[in-house]
This record gives sequence, structure tokens and C-alpha cells, in this order.
Amino acid sequence: MALQISATNPEHPALLLELPWHLPLEEWPDEYLVPLPRGISRHVVRYARAGDEVIAVKELAERPALREYELLRDLDRLGIPAVDPLAVVTGRTAAGDAPLEPVLITRHLGGSMPYRSMFETTMRPATMHRLMDALAVLLVRLHLSGFAWGDCSLSNTLFRRDAGAYAAYLVDAETGDLHPQLSPGQRDYDLDLARVNISGELLDLEASGALHPSVDPIEFGMEICARYGGLWEELTRTSVYPAGKYHYIERRIRRLNELGFDVAEMQIEHSSNGDTVTFVPKVVDAGHHQRQLLRLTGLDTEENQARRLLGDLESWMATQDDYAPGDPLAARPEVLAHRWVRDVFRPTVRAVPLELRGSMDPAEIYHELLEHRWYLSERAQHDIGLDTVVQDYINNILPTARETLLPTPSAD
Ligand SMILES: Nc1ncnc2c1ncn2[C@@H]1O[C@H](COP(=O)(O)OP(=O)(O)O)[C@@H](O)[C@H]1O
Ligand SMILES: [Mg+2]
Repeated sequence: MALQISATNPEHPALLLELPWHLPLEEWPDEYLVPLPRGISRHVVRYARAGDEVIAVKELAERPALREYELLRDLDRLGIPAVDPLAVVTGRTAAGDAPLEPVLITRHLGGSMPYRSMFETTMRPATMHRLMDALAVLLVRLHLSGFAWGDCSLSNTLFRRDAGAYAAYLVDAETGDLHPQLSPGQRDYDLDLARVNISGELLDLEASGALHPSVDPIEFGMEICARYGGLWEELTRTSVYPAGKYHYIERRIRRLNELGFDVAEMQIEHSSNGDTVTFVPKVVDAGHHQRQLLRLTGLDTEENQARRLLGDLESWMATQDDYAPGDPLAARPEVLAHRWVRDVFRPTVRAVPLELRGSMDPAEIYHELLEHRWYLSERAQHDIGLDTVVQDYINNILPTARETLLPTPSAD
């Protein structure tokens, strides 16, 4: 059987051909290898050099190799933090034509550490709590996308430092399964596996003397459940607010943004007597808002601006008489969005005199006004109308902000 390399990038096969595929991975000479720390694994895993890149090579049977490769590609498409799949190599033979196991190749996740190496210096409990936070975020993200991990554990996760916290990446997708949606039972089962695995891994560390004495392995296993539960609830619960209190919805969206989740396509429903609104956020990947806002309104903005503007647009849509998502006779979102640009966005921005805008573009001004509305509404504990906000902004904020907003005069 001939050596076959299936790769995501056409440049990779040439680089990969240089590697000694006729040798079992365990016998690869040092000149090909990169000595970086590895986690515990069932299969043989080695890091090797391929051109400028460091790759992780894992030896396993053909079917699971192809399956894991496809699943990692799915996760990439879904915007989930996971290692990048690069290739699968099949048809390997040793001298004398003895078949060798295929390999799955992923890009080495730079700056990442397996948890065991992190514990070597006896990690403080506070740091461990942060790792659990990161792992809970990853598991929630996977579940929201319909991915049941099947073997969530510290060994199957890589951690990267992220502005004082940690970001968790999935490294082992072999046992995973992608569904359109997960049932509560499937999620519970997956979470329970995580709990048992984590407690087991911490018990191992304890036995080898590498665990901080104040850390209880069983309690830490439970902690992943508590963190996951809190996060899931915050992301998916339906809230009911008195009609007109849109800043409550905004408060919830802000909380979700602070947790690192983007919210799109809020479902807002009015009760039949019009007294309450029901709100369910939908969580999405990064860059989503920019594309969505451009499609709906033609406004081309930065991602954070787009998120703010869409939030406002969607709350406003819900106040329109002909807004009825799912009803084929109701106004299409593009039509409502156009009306919002014409009746709300443009007049609001235009109300701020050109000479006071400094270097801010319209999206940034509108964003500033939304910030100011948020601030005034929180202070007043009720919604403040945009007209009032604009006036207050012009009178009280712009005069002090002006100097910093004006383009700086050049030195000459
Ligand atoms: N792309 C990668 N980047 C960094 N480390 C990796 C990568 N792929 C694998 N590893 C390391 O190898 C270990 C084992 O990989 P894994 O896929 O979990 O193998 P197994 O299926 O045998 O459990 C991981 O815990 C991790 O430390
Ligand atoms: Mg593993």
C-alpha cells in the first residue's frame, strides 16, 4: 500500500514527506523531534518539526484517525478552541513491508501546557480555580455547539495563559460526537465523566505528592459541575422582564459579554397582554456580529461596535408593530433594519454636531451614545430615551472628552 497524506493545506504534504514514516513513532531519531512536555496519553504522541512549524503526531488506527481529523475540522468550523488538524497519514510500511499504524497530525498549540507540567511546581488553589473556570467555559461552548466530548479530562485539555486568566483548548476529540443539539441527559452524562476524570487525575497527583495540600480532589471534581451549571444557566435561561425595561436585557447581555460570550439573535417575545417580554439569548462565534450587521444594514464596523449596534437594533425591532419572527407575513429583518438606520441610527448620529465629533466615526458615536444611555438608565433605574441621552451627551460629556478625541496636531 502506498503512503498517503490527506492534508487540509496543500503545502503541508511536501513538508510532511520529509519525515521518517517508515519508522514507528517511538523510534523516530531525535533530529526530527522537538522536546516539549506532553500530557498522558493512550497512544504514542511525539512533537516533530515540519518546515517552520511544530506538529504533534499521534499514532492510531485508521478509522479513529480519520474520525478525529473530521471532528477537529468540525470544531474549527464551529469556532471552538481546539488543536488544528493538519493531516492524516495512512499506508505506512516498515522495512520488509510490515504495516505501521496511521497517524493524525495536528499543529502544536504554541504556549500551551499540559496540566501535569503546570502542577510540577505545586500549583496554588487560586490558579486551579481559574483552570476549572477555563475548562467549564470550553465544555459549555462545546455543548452549545452540540458536541458531546465523551472524555473531558485535564489530560485531554491544553491550557494557555490569557491576560491573567487561562484559556482551555480541546486536544483529544477521539471520543467526541457531534449532534444537532444535546439533550440535558447527554450534557449531564458528559459533565459527570468530566467530574470523575478530573477527580481521578487530581488523586493521581496527590499520590505523587504534586498536589497542594489544601486541594481536595473530590471537591475539585464537583467544582467543574458547579461552574458549568452556573455558566450554562446564565447563557441559556429565559428571563421575563416588564415591558419597556430594555436596559434589563442590556444588563444581561453585558454580563454574558463579560463572561466571554457573544450574543446574537436574541429571541424577544411579548406576552399576549403586552405587560412582559421574554428574552432568550443565543450565543455565537466571534466576527459574527460584524457580518450580521453588514448584511442587515450595510454598516461596516468593528466587531465590538457591531455587537452593540445589533443589540440596540434587535431591542428596537421588538418594539415595532410588524415585528413577528417566524411569521412569513411580518416585516423581514432587513426591512426593519433599514427603517432603524433611517429613523434611529442616522438621526441620532446627526444630532451630534460634526465639529464636536472629533475623530469618531458614526458607529463609534452611536456606540458612545448607547454607553451613555446605559449609564443614565442604570442611574435612573429606568429606560432613558435616546433624545435625552444625546442632549446630555452633547452638554456634559463631549466638552470634557473633546480634547482627547480631536486628532492630535502634528509636531511641525
Ligand atoms: N496539537 C497539540 N499541541 C500540543 N500538545 C499536544 C497536541 N496534540 C497532542 N498533544 C499532547 O499529547 C497528549 C496526548 O494527546 P491525546 O490526543 O490526548 O492522545 P490520546 O488519544 O492518546 O489520549 C496531550 O495531552 C497533549 O499534552
Ligand atoms: Mg487523550
